[in-house]
Amino acid sequence: YPIFAQQGYENPREATGRIVCANCHLAKKPVDIEVPQSVLPDTVFEAVVRIPYDARVKQVLANGKKGALNVGAVLILPEGFKLAPPERITPEIRERVGNLFFQAYRPDKQNILVIGPVPGAKYSEIVFPILSPDPATEEGAHFLKYPIYVGGNRGRGQIYPDGSKSNNTICNASVAGRVSQILRKDKGGYEVTIDNTPDGRTVVETVPPGPELIVTEGELIKADQPLTNNPNVGGFGQGDAEIVLQDPSRVQGLLLFFASVILAQTFLVLKKKQFEKVQLAEMKN
Ligand code: HEM
Repeated sequence: YPIFAQQGYENPREATGRIVCANCHLAKKPVDIEVPQSVLPDTVFEAVVRIPYDARVKQVLANGKKGALNVGAVLILPEGFKLAPPERITPEIRERVGNLFFQAYRPDKQNILVIGPVPGAKYSEIVFPILSPDPATEEGAHFLKYPIYVGGNRGRGQIYPDGSKSNNTICNASVAGRVSQILRKDKGGYEVTIDNTPDGRTVVETVPPGPELIVTEGELIKADQPLTNNPNVGGFGQGDAEIVLQDPSRVQGLLLFFASVILAQTFLVLKKKQFEKVQLAEMKN
Protein backbone atom coordinates (compact mmCIF):
# COMPACT_ATOMS: atom_id res chain seq x y z
CA TYR A 1 0.00 0.00 0.00
CA PRO A 2 1.17 3.57 -0.57
CA ILE A 3 0.96 4.05 3.21
CA PHE A 4 3.71 1.40 3.61
CA ALA A 5 5.92 3.55 1.36
CA GLN A 6 4.98 6.74 3.22
CA GLN A 7 5.88 5.12 6.55
CA GLY A 8 9.08 3.47 5.39
CA TYR A 9 10.71 5.91 3.01
CA GLU A 10 11.39 9.65 3.28
CA ASN A 11 11.43 9.94 -0.52
CA PRO A 12 9.53 7.51 -2.76
CA ARG A 13 12.14 7.82 -5.52
CA GLU A 14 15.56 6.39 -4.71
CA ALA A 15 18.81 7.91 -5.98
CA THR A 16 18.91 5.21 -8.67
CA GLY A 17 15.55 6.40 -10.01
CA ARG A 18 13.76 3.32 -8.70
CA ILE A 19 10.41 3.97 -7.03
CA VAL A 20 10.17 2.23 -3.64
CA CYS A 21 6.90 0.35 -4.28
CA ALA A 22 9.08 -2.01 -6.35
CA ASN A 23 10.78 -3.19 -3.14
CA CYS A 24 7.65 -5.10 -2.13
CA HIS A 25 5.73 -5.38 -5.40
CA LEU A 26 8.22 -7.62 -7.14
CA ALA A 27 6.58 -8.34 -10.50
CA LYS A 28 7.01 -5.83 -13.27
CA LYS A 29 3.97 -4.69 -15.26
CA PRO A 30 3.48 -1.63 -17.48
CA VAL A 31 2.19 1.82 -16.54
CA ASP A 32 1.59 4.82 -18.75
CA ILE A 33 1.41 8.56 -18.03
CA GLU A 34 0.01 11.36 -20.17
CA VAL A 35 0.46 15.09 -19.40
CA PRO A 36 0.20 18.21 -21.57
CA GLN A 37 3.42 19.12 -23.42
CA SER A 38 3.34 22.55 -21.73
CA VAL A 39 1.25 24.45 -19.18
CA LEU A 40 0.86 28.11 -18.27
CA PRO A 41 1.45 29.28 -14.68
CA ASP A 42 -1.32 28.94 -12.08
CA THR A 43 -3.32 26.63 -14.36
CA VAL A 44 -5.19 23.40 -13.58
CA PHE A 45 -4.35 20.47 -15.86
CA GLU A 46 -4.75 16.67 -15.85
CA ALA A 47 -2.11 13.99 -15.45
CA VAL A 48 -3.58 10.69 -16.63
CA VAL A 49 -2.02 7.50 -15.26
CA ARG A 50 -2.98 4.16 -16.80
CA ILE A 51 -2.44 0.87 -14.94
CA PRO A 52 -3.64 -1.69 -17.49
CA TYR A 53 -4.50 -5.31 -16.64
CA ASP A 54 -7.05 -7.93 -17.56
CA ALA A 55 -9.98 -7.12 -15.25
CA ARG A 56 -11.24 -10.73 -15.45
CA VAL A 57 -8.17 -12.00 -13.59
CA LYS A 58 -8.51 -12.79 -9.86
CA GLN A 59 -5.77 -12.79 -7.26
CA VAL A 60 -5.10 -14.59 -4.00
CA LEU A 61 -6.38 -12.58 -1.02
CA ALA A 62 -4.88 -12.57 2.47
CA ASN A 63 -7.34 -15.29 3.58
CA GLY A 64 -6.42 -17.53 0.63
CA LYS A 65 -9.65 -16.89 -1.25
CA LYS A 66 -9.70 -15.30 -4.71
CA GLY A 67 -10.75 -11.71 -5.36
CA ALA A 68 -10.47 -8.70 -7.61
CA LEU A 69 -7.35 -6.53 -7.84
CA ASN A 70 -6.96 -3.01 -6.50
CA VAL A 71 -4.71 -0.35 -7.95
CA GLY A 72 -2.64 2.50 -6.52
CA ALA A 73 -0.13 5.05 -7.73
CA VAL A 74 2.44 7.63 -6.69
CA LEU A 75 2.99 10.75 -8.81
CA ILE A 76 6.20 12.76 -8.33
CA LEU A 77 5.71 16.27 -9.70
CA PRO A 78 8.28 19.07 -10.00
CA GLU A 79 8.74 21.33 -6.97
CA GLY A 80 5.85 23.82 -6.74
CA PHE A 81 3.29 21.71 -8.60
CA LYS A 82 0.51 20.35 -6.37
CA LEU A 83 -2.96 18.84 -6.21
CA ALA A 84 -5.50 21.33 -7.60
CA PRO A 85 -7.70 22.73 -4.79
CA PRO A 86 -11.38 21.69 -5.13
CA GLU A 87 -12.59 25.22 -5.97
CA ARG A 88 -10.26 25.34 -9.00
CA ILE A 89 -11.45 22.03 -10.47
CA THR A 90 -13.99 22.44 -13.28
CA PRO A 91 -17.02 20.08 -13.43
CA GLU A 92 -15.54 18.45 -16.58
CA ILE A 93 -12.29 17.58 -14.81
CA ARG A 94 -14.18 16.51 -11.67
CA GLU A 95 -16.18 14.05 -13.74
CA ARG A 96 -13.02 12.52 -15.21
CA VAL A 97 -11.33 12.34 -11.78
CA GLY A 98 -14.32 10.54 -10.24
CA ASN A 99 -14.65 9.82 -6.56
CA LEU A 100 -10.93 9.71 -5.73
CA PHE A 101 -9.12 11.27 -2.79
CA PHE A 102 -5.47 12.01 -3.39
CA GLN A 103 -3.01 12.54 -0.59
CA ALA A 104 0.32 14.34 -0.34
CA TYR A 105 3.17 11.91 0.36
CA ARG A 106 4.25 14.06 3.32
CA PRO A 107 2.85 17.36 4.69
CA ASP A 108 6.07 19.00 3.48
CA LYS A 109 5.98 17.23 0.09
CA GLN A 110 2.84 18.60 -1.58
CA ASN A 111 4.38 17.89 -5.01
CA ILE A 112 4.29 14.12 -4.42
CA LEU A 113 0.81 12.58 -4.54
CA VAL A 114 -0.41 9.09 -3.66
CA ILE A 115 -3.67 7.28 -4.29
CA GLY A 116 -4.92 3.80 -3.45
CA PRO A 117 -5.81 1.18 -2.93
CA VAL A 118 -8.89 1.75 -5.08
CA PRO A 119 -10.85 -0.83 -7.15
CA GLY A 120 -8.94 -1.59 -10.33
CA ALA A 121 -12.08 -2.42 -12.27
CA LYS A 122 -13.12 1.23 -12.03
CA TYR A 123 -9.82 3.07 -11.75
CA SER A 124 -7.30 1.37 -14.00
CA GLU A 125 -7.10 4.90 -15.45
CA ILE A 126 -6.51 7.56 -12.76
CA VAL A 127 -6.84 11.28 -13.50
CA PHE A 128 -4.82 13.55 -11.18
CA PRO A 129 -5.98 17.21 -11.18
CA ILE A 130 -2.80 19.32 -10.88
CA LEU A 131 -2.19 23.03 -10.33
CA SER A 132 0.95 24.55 -11.86
CA PRO A 133 2.94 27.13 -9.85
CA ASP A 134 3.33 30.81 -10.75
CA PRO A 135 6.98 31.94 -10.89
CA ALA A 136 5.79 35.56 -10.48
CA THR A 137 4.50 34.90 -6.98
CA GLU A 138 6.18 31.66 -5.87
CA GLU A 139 9.80 31.40 -4.99
CA GLY A 140 11.61 28.44 -6.51
CA ALA A 141 9.26 28.14 -9.48
CA HIS A 142 10.88 28.78 -12.85
CA PHE A 143 9.86 28.67 -16.49
CA LEU A 144 11.62 25.44 -17.38
CA LYS A 145 11.17 21.94 -18.73
CA TYR A 146 10.62 19.48 -15.86
CA PRO A 147 10.46 15.69 -15.48
CA ILE A 148 7.43 13.97 -13.90
CA TYR A 149 7.76 10.44 -12.47
CA VAL A 150 5.01 7.92 -11.84
CA GLY A 151 4.73 4.52 -10.16
CA GLY A 152 1.60 2.45 -10.62
CA ASN A 153 0.62 -0.86 -9.10
CA ARG A 154 -2.11 -3.47 -9.45
CA GLY A 155 -2.46 -6.36 -7.03
CA ARG A 156 -1.10 -7.30 -3.64
CA GLY A 157 2.53 -7.04 -2.63
CA GLN A 158 4.90 -9.89 -1.83
CA ILE A 159 6.62 -8.48 1.27
CA TYR A 160 5.21 -6.73 4.36
CA PRO A 161 6.99 -3.75 5.96
CA ASP A 162 8.33 -6.08 8.71
CA GLY A 163 10.07 -8.15 6.03
CA SER A 164 7.75 -11.16 6.19
CA LYS A 165 6.39 -12.65 2.97
CA SER A 166 2.75 -12.28 2.02
CA ASN A 167 0.79 -15.29 0.76
CA ASN A 168 0.89 -13.74 -2.73
CA THR A 169 4.32 -15.11 -3.59
CA ILE A 170 6.33 -18.33 -4.08
CA CYS A 171 7.24 -20.47 -1.06
CA ASN A 172 10.72 -21.97 -1.32
CA ALA A 173 12.31 -24.83 0.59
CA SER A 174 14.72 -23.48 3.19
CA VAL A 175 16.82 -26.67 3.06
CA ALA A 176 17.63 -29.54 0.71
CA GLY A 177 16.15 -32.94 1.56
CA ARG A 178 13.20 -35.23 0.95
CA VAL A 179 9.55 -34.23 1.22
CA SER A 180 8.43 -36.80 3.78
CA GLN A 181 4.95 -35.51 4.55
CA ILE A 182 2.44 -32.99 3.23
CA LEU A 183 -0.30 -31.96 5.64
CA ARG A 184 -3.25 -29.97 4.40
CA LYS A 185 -4.48 -27.60 7.12
CA ASP A 186 -8.16 -27.02 7.87
CA LYS A 187 -8.00 -23.30 7.19
CA GLY A 188 -6.11 -23.84 3.94
CA GLY A 189 -2.38 -23.97 3.36
CA TYR A 190 0.04 -26.81 4.03
CA GLU A 191 2.74 -28.06 6.33
CA VAL A 192 5.51 -29.62 4.30
CA THR A 193 7.90 -31.81 6.28
CA ILE A 194 11.40 -32.21 4.85
CA ASP A 195 13.73 -34.91 6.22
CA ASN A 196 17.10 -36.25 5.07
CA THR A 197 18.47 -32.69 5.25
CA PRO A 198 22.29 -32.29 5.05
CA ASP A 199 22.58 -31.89 8.83
CA GLY A 200 20.05 -34.64 9.57
CA ARG A 201 17.32 -32.39 10.96
CA THR A 202 13.67 -32.54 10.04
CA VAL A 203 12.27 -29.18 8.90
CA VAL A 204 8.62 -28.22 8.66
CA GLU A 205 7.83 -25.55 6.09
CA THR A 206 4.55 -23.69 6.47
CA VAL A 207 2.80 -22.80 3.23
CA PRO A 208 0.02 -20.24 3.79
CA PRO A 209 -3.35 -20.49 2.03
CA GLY A 210 -2.98 -19.12 -1.48
CA PRO A 211 -0.12 -20.53 -3.53
CA GLU A 212 -0.52 -24.05 -4.95
CA LEU A 213 1.88 -26.86 -4.05
CA ILE A 214 4.03 -28.22 -6.87
CA VAL A 215 5.97 -30.87 -4.88
CA THR A 216 4.75 -34.32 -3.87
CA GLU A 217 5.54 -36.65 -1.00
CA GLY A 218 8.77 -38.57 -1.52
CA GLU A 219 10.27 -35.97 -3.84
CA LEU A 220 13.92 -34.96 -3.39
CA ILE A 221 14.39 -31.21 -3.37
CA LYS A 222 17.23 -28.71 -3.35
CA ALA A 223 17.57 -25.71 -1.04
CA ASP A 224 15.60 -22.70 -2.34
CA GLN A 225 13.64 -24.89 -4.73
CA PRO A 226 10.04 -23.61 -5.11
CA LEU A 227 7.48 -25.62 -3.17
CA THR A 228 4.60 -23.72 -4.76
CA ASN A 229 3.65 -21.90 -7.92
CA ASN A 230 3.79 -18.10 -8.05
CA PRO A 231 0.23 -16.93 -7.40
CA ASN A 232 0.99 -13.26 -8.13
CA VAL A 233 -0.98 -11.90 -11.08
CA GLY A 234 -0.34 -8.22 -10.33
CA GLY A 235 2.69 -6.02 -10.73
CA PHE A 236 4.28 -2.62 -10.45
CA GLY A 237 5.66 -0.34 -13.12
CA GLN A 238 7.16 3.10 -13.34
CA GLY A 239 7.44 5.72 -16.04
CA ASP A 240 8.10 9.38 -16.67
CA ALA A 241 7.02 12.33 -18.76
CA GLU A 242 8.17 15.88 -19.40
CA ILE A 243 6.30 19.14 -18.99
CA VAL A 244 7.23 22.73 -19.84
CA LEU A 245 6.12 25.51 -17.49
CA GLN A 246 5.51 28.08 -20.21
CA ASP A 247 5.97 31.84 -19.77
CA PRO A 248 2.85 33.49 -21.31
CA SER A 249 4.90 36.54 -22.37
CA ARG A 250 7.05 34.24 -24.53
CA VAL A 251 3.94 32.94 -26.31
CA GLN A 252 2.71 36.53 -26.73
CA GLY A 253 6.13 37.52 -28.11
CA LEU A 254 5.99 34.67 -30.59
CA LEU A 255 2.49 35.70 -31.73
CA LEU A 256 3.67 39.30 -32.10
CA PHE A 257 6.58 38.12 -34.23
CA PHE A 258 4.24 36.06 -36.44
CA ALA A 259 1.96 39.10 -36.84
CA SER A 260 4.91 41.30 -37.85
CA VAL A 261 6.06 38.72 -40.43
CA ILE A 262 2.58 38.57 -41.99
CA LEU A 263 2.37 42.37 -42.03
CA ALA A 264 5.80 42.71 -43.67
CA GLN A 265 4.88 40.14 -46.35
CA THR A 266 1.59 41.94 -47.07
CA PHE A 267 3.37 45.27 -47.50
CA LEU A 268 5.91 43.70 -49.83
CA VAL A 269 3.11 42.40 -52.05
CA LEU A 270 1.40 45.82 -52.00
CA LYS A 271 4.68 47.49 -52.92
CA LYS A 272 5.10 45.05 -55.82
CA LYS A 273 1.57 45.84 -57.07
CA GLN A 274 2.34 49.57 -56.89
CA PHE A 275 5.59 49.07 -58.80
CA GLU A 276 3.78 47.07 -61.49
CA LYS A 277 1.34 49.96 -61.93
CA VAL A 278 4.23 52.37 -62.42
CA GLN A 279 5.85 49.95 -64.94
CA LEU A 280 2.54 49.74 -66.85
CA ALA A 281 2.22 53.53 -66.94
CA GLU A 282 5.82 53.85 -68.19
CA MET A 283 5.22 51.29 -70.95
CA LYS A 284 2.13 53.19 -72.18
CA ASN A 285 4.14 56.41 -72.62
C1 HEM B 1 -1.01 -4.03 -1.33
C2 HEM B 1 0.08 -0.12 -4.00
C3 HEM B 1 4.26 0.28 -1.62
C4 HEM B 1 3.53 -4.06 0.39
C5 HEM B 1 -1.10 -2.95 -2.20
C6 HEM B 1 -2.27 -2.61 -2.96
C7 HEM B 1 -1.97 -1.53 -3.73
C8 HEM B 1 -0.60 -1.18 -3.43
C9 HEM B 1 -2.87 -0.82 -4.74
C10 HEM B 1 -3.61 -3.34 -2.93
C11 HEM B 1 -3.61 -4.41 -3.96
C12 HEM B 1 -4.87 -5.22 -3.98
O1 HEM B 1 -5.60 -5.26 -2.97
O2 HEM B 1 -5.16 -5.78 -5.05
C13 HEM B 1 1.33 0.32 -3.59
C14 HEM B 1 1.98 1.52 -4.09
C15 HEM B 1 3.13 1.64 -3.40
C16 HEM B 1 3.22 0.51 -2.49
C17 HEM B 1 1.45 2.42 -5.20
C18 HEM B 1 4.17 2.74 -3.49
C19 HEM B 1 3.80 4.04 -3.44
C20 HEM B 1 4.43 -0.86 -0.87
C21 HEM B 1 5.56 -1.12 -0.03
C22 HEM B 1 5.34 -2.34 0.56
C23 HEM B 1 4.08 -2.84 0.06
C24 HEM B 1 6.76 -0.19 0.13
C25 HEM B 1 6.21 -3.09 1.53
C26 HEM B 1 6.86 -2.47 2.54
C27 HEM B 1 2.23 -4.41 0.09
C28 HEM B 1 1.61 -5.64 0.57
C29 HEM B 1 0.29 -5.63 0.09
C30 HEM B 1 0.14 -4.40 -0.69
C31 HEM B 1 2.26 -6.72 1.42
C32 HEM B 1 -0.78 -6.69 0.35
C33 HEM B 1 -1.43 -6.40 1.65
C34 HEM B 1 -2.46 -7.44 1.99
O3 HEM B 1 -3.40 -7.60 1.23
O4 HEM B 1 -2.28 -8.10 3.01
N1 HEM B 1 -0.11 -2.06 -2.49
N2 HEM B 1 2.12 -0.28 -2.64
N3 HEM B 1 3.54 -1.91 -0.79
N4 HEM B 1 1.33 -3.71 -0.67
FE1 HEM B 1 1.73 -2.03 -1.67
